[in-house]
Amino acid sequence: MIYTDELIEEIRLRSDIVDVISGYVKLQRKGSSYFGLCPFHNEKSPSFSVNPQRQMYHCFGCGAGGDVFTFIREYENYSFPEAVKLLADRAGIALPQEEESEGNRRQRDLRTAVLDINRTAAKYYYYLLHTEQGGRAMAYLKDRGLTDETIRRFGLGYSGQYSNLLSRYLKKQGVSDALLKESGLVQLDEKRGMYDKFWNRVMFPIMDVNSRVIGFGGRVMGDAKPKYLNSPETVIFDKGRNLYGLHAARSSRKKNMLVCEGYMDVIAMHQAGFTNAVASLGTALTSQHAILLKRYTDEVILTYDSDEAGVRAALRAIPLLREAGITTRVLHMEPYKDPDEFIKALGQEAFQERIDQAQNSFLFEIEILERSYDMKDPTDKTRFFRETARKIAEFEQEIERENYIEAVAEKYRTSFDGMRKLVMGWLMQGAPARKQPARRTDIPKKEDGIGRSERLLLSWLAEYPQLYPTFSSRIAPEDFSDELYQKVARLLYRQLEAGKPNTAWIVNQFEDLEQQRAIAEIFHTEVRVETPKDTEKAILENMRKVMENAVEERSRRLDPADIAGLQKLIAAKREIQELGRLHISL
Ligand code: CTP
Ligand code: MN
Repeated sequence: MIYTDELIEEIRLRSDIVDVISGYVKLQRKGSSYFGLCPFHNEKSPSFSVNPQRQMYHCFGCGAGGDVFTFIREYENYSFPEAVKLLADRAGIALPQEEESEGNRRQRDLRTAVLDINRTAAKYYYYLLHTEQGGRAMAYLKDRGLTDETIRRFGLGYSGQYSNLLSRYLKKQGVSDALLKESGLVQLDEKRGMYDKFWNRVMFPIMDVNSRVIGFGGRVMGDAKPKYLNSPETVIFDKGRNLYGLHAARSSRKKNMLVCEGYMDVIAMHQAGFTNAVASLGTALTSQHAILLKRYTDEVILTYDSDEAGVRAALRAIPLLREAGITTRVLHMEPYKDPDEFIKALGQEAFQERIDQAQNSFLFEIEILERSYDMKDPTDKTRFFRETARKIAEFEQEIERENYIEAVAEKYRTSFDGMRKLVMGWLMQGAPARKQPARRTDIPKKEDGIGRSERLLLSWLAEYPQLYPTFSSRIAPEDFSDELYQKVARLLYRQLEAGKPNTAWIVNQFEDLEQQRAIAEIFHTEVRVETPKDTEKAILENMRKVMENAVEERSRRLDPADIAGLQKLIAAKREIQELGRLHISL
């Protein structure tokens, strides 16, 4: 169902963002904005801001952000039409009929119900852990070195001594048999009737990025088999798309993510301060995992087990991560089996050292390749070099190939030239190019200085529409360095031509949640200055930066024969010089 722009705007008008978000988050007024604890990541002091003028929210901690529709999509995990429906209902606006099929609605209700059951179960397991019958489980967790704080933070629990505690508890709360089955927490057996999937196990709730419980892992407290049981896939639990620990790791503010194999590894790493650790859940890393990770980082450090299975898992993961645009390094765990054991034995600092020394994934791949050759045998050794050269030939860029030729030549003490000839040989034969990391170019990088200046300009422009003539005569939307910012500038300029800016509407012109976030970030960019005079100075300063950058960019691309272009460039340069005489007043 496609809703008209007018309808969406009416719903927005009648869904004040402060009002709506207040239903989920406790907000406090601070100046012209409201602040609260971000519902999308764990935090102790509020960095989640809601701006009533802009009708947008933005978290300065984790970068979540958007308009009122984005909020509902992110918080409720709804699609756009679902968010529209919720807000329309709330505002008492009737939607055109047949907007949601019966099947859709039933599916959505089912998801909500199963989420509810999972949350109830997690609370119940947590409660049991703290009762007398949970004593042994608690002792087990303590024995594995977990603190109370860690147990709380990961919501660990105990599933009880009997195999029907949870189903009895849920039934008492009025949950139907059909729903119990859908939740995956209760099983039906001809002989035994209904019984709990998990009992007498320590329980690890699995959460999605928004900290909602979507499933469980349960571990026996001894050596019985199977060691771990996991929730089956349900309407809310898809193993290929969720990573254990991501809800916490996403806001760790570290520059990379640590990817490991197990529950206990994630928990041990977080407890030791490595809060950027996640695990795929008893399955191999999938390309969906890789894409998910790419939302939060550009670099992954694999901290898999040191055994054969761990090596195999790493070799499988590396190309998937590469395809998602992530560079990978591999941490060497020897002589320990996994991060949990390593940290227990050598402590946090030693682990940090291993992180710092983690090996480039290509050299790791080569090292593993080496194992299948007898390097003492000249023929075999040559074969190894030829194979290595073939892999190097897959790199698209010459400089990258040269770097790897150098690294390999040095590592295996062979000649650079010899190695290079082998690589050239493969190139002549047309070796298939290695897939370049598919960098997301539609989301601007946060760190760059020019990006910040551009965000500031757009943000000021929305705040002070009177700046529009001054801006638009000097800076065209195409002058912004990033494609997304160009689009936003175009939309904002168009609004300002017609009158008032509506930044929340701009957010809504983009489908993608990542883009919506980036746009909310633009309109929450500010500089802290004392007086209007300082603001004016800052505006001029940033205008200059953006103009200079645009001129530089244009002169780099200018065709020397393009006289008209050259003249324009000169004019633009003059305008920059004249900025010194420009006065603006707010
Ligand atoms: N796993 C599983 N089912 C099993 C064994 C393992 O789902 N029967 C998954 C779990 O997610 C587990 C991960 O694979 O965390 C790694 O397994 P393993 O290395 O055997 O266990 P550890 O994480 O080392 O567990 P522990 O330290 O508790 O023994
Ligand atoms: Mn372990």
